Amino acid sequence: MEIRGKFLDTLRSRLSISEIVGAKVKLTRKGREYLGLCPFHHEKTPSFTVNNEKEFYHCFGCGAHGDAIRFLMEVEKYTFMEAIKELASRVGLSVPSGMLTNETQAREDFTPLLEALQHANMWFQKNLSLSSHAGVLRYTEERKLTKDTLKKFEIGYAPHEPHALEKHLKDKGFSEKVLIDAGFLVQGEGNKPPYDRFRGRLMFPIHNAKKQVIAFGGRLLEKGEPKYLNSPETPLFSKGKNLYGYPFAKGKQTSDPLLVVEGYMDVIALHQAGYKGAVAPLGTAFTEDQIHLAWRLDPEPVLCFDGDAAGLKAAMRATERVAPLLKPGHSLKFLFLPQGEDPDSLLRKGMAFEELLKGVQSLLDTVWIFFTQGKQFKTPEQRTALQQQYNLWAHSLTNSDIRKHYLFAFKDLFYQKIIQKSQRNTQFLPPNRKNLNLFSIQEQLLLAIIVNHPNLLDEISDDLAFLELKNPRFHEIREAMLRFYTQNSSQEENLKDFLLKQGLSREVEELLSPQVLIHGAFAKPSASLEEAREGWKEIFNRIQHRGTKDDLRSAQNSLAEEMSDEAWQRLKVLKKNTMLQD
Ligand code: UTP
Ligand code: MN
Repeated sequence: MEIRGKFLDTLRSRLSISEIVGAKVKLTRKGREYLGLCPFHHEKTPSFTVNNEKEFYHCFGCGAHGDAIRFLMEVEKYTFMEAIKELASRVGLSVPSGMLTNETQAREDFTPLLEALQHANMWFQKNLSLSSHAGVLRYTEERKLTKDTLKKFEIGYAPHEPHALEKHLKDKGFSEKVLIDAGFLVQGEGNKPPYDRFRGRLMFPIHNAKKQVIAFGGRLLEKGEPKYLNSPETPLFSKGKNLYGYPFAKGKQTSDPLLVVEGYMDVIALHQAGYKGAVAPLGTAFTEDQIHLAWRLDPEPVLCFDGDAAGLKAAMRATERVAPLLKPGHSLKFLFLPQGEDPDSLLRKGMAFEELLKGVQSLLDTVWIFFTQGKQFKTPEQRTALQQQYNLWAHSLTNSDIRKHYLFAFKDLFYQKIIQKSQRNTQFLPPNRKNLNLFSIQEQLLLAIIVNHPNLLDEISDDLAFLELKNPRFHEIREAMLRFYTQNSSQEENLKDFLLKQGLSREVEELLSPQVLIHGAFAKPSASLEEAREGWKEIFNRIQHRGTKDDLRSAQNSLAEEMSDEAWQRLKVLKKNTMLQD
């Protein structure tokens, strides 16, 4: 901590934050400060200030605030260490080894490697337009890649000759070790000399966040295996830790979602169609590191998959991988494309980009579909299996608040899509007005118990969520109660106040009216928690069993038997009213 603090102080003191910010934002001097248009929100009059003495920037419009390090992290999407290293190198400081992790330490001086990669990159690009390789441009034309696109993505060509790149780089003075470290050479069999890894392939350079070339992917022009070949893992490149197109996607509009597509050509085709926010994992399943990288560009990136079986499986794995990583505001979304298609093929068929995005669905909906599609939930066993499955998924979430919300959302879906749907199909006793009155009293009592004894929610929230309320007027207040329960884990806020704030005062008044409470003392505020709990169980059971004519009759009977004289009178009045109304 000590070394780190001291170093950061030295670093900040040597930097001029107005220069660093000024490279990205047009600043004009105003007294001791600089003023410009805020890069973090849209504005027409400048409210973004930079203060060199205080070493920070501050926006009076949106509240964005930070030092030079924060600025590079926000604007260039660097990690903390990347930002520090970049700034340190600008002022000629080296980051103390105590601050570097093992991994970054091992990466320390890879200048020759980076240079070799850059030289190769330029050479591949030069090859593309050589007349001796005319077939390559025919291929790029066939794939509808424009000259601008080729240039922007620095697309090149590796010729067939097995030692062409090796010779070129060695002529430039790079050692064989550097070529091997950079992943350009493959060991020959036996004691044959090493030879070029990439031969006869269209070359796509892979860039890091700073847009340095760190690896390549190469595609065969003709049919063959493997269709794509990537650089091996090198000190600079680890395929699970990078995303193709990352530095280009930094230029996307903040409001545009980040699309995570499968291949190089998809990223490129999207750019060519005018959409900058696209990246691709490099031939692997989407890894944890890649999720974190994508989150730097968009808290809710959209993962695009082919709608075939392999795509669904890959998507399912992504839902499992992201579960423990979910944090407030951060998730993934999913988009399934028609079978056998990818964004590149769809765009080439003339599909509009907006059209493509129509099917985007949330993580919640996606996992629900995985759990339910093609299955039946008619038997208790089938339903329990489904509950087990979503509980298991939810339990892999490490964030307990998010887990709670997912469990609620699942229960809600379970109730709506499984229970309610089957009830709709099997409803043999549509409630007439008389029944509705009886049902209403039961329902009013249950809800009144909760208003007066909100502590019970801990035990009964599940029951409440699944409860079939015949009277549609109570659906909203039930939802509000459940919302209160999920949102107020501290229980500091009073449920009644919460309901009133939600505009449910009429309903609350109705529930707490003497006409309702007269039917059950257990629903009154004066009842003990124990009495309230017993009352809840009793009425809940009756509601559970209503449905058949017999059940209804017995429910009516038992309600009648057990009710006080007072209540019985009341029911009679109700019945009379009903008759009068009929
Ligand atoms: P696809 O086979 O879906 O190819 O691989 P594609 O992107 O549609 O390629 P085109 O349109 O035929 O040119 C998707 C991604 O998987 C990786 C590559 O990153 C590719 O872009 N991949 C694929 C490999 O790494 N090796 C392979 O042999 C194939
Ligand atoms: Mn493709």
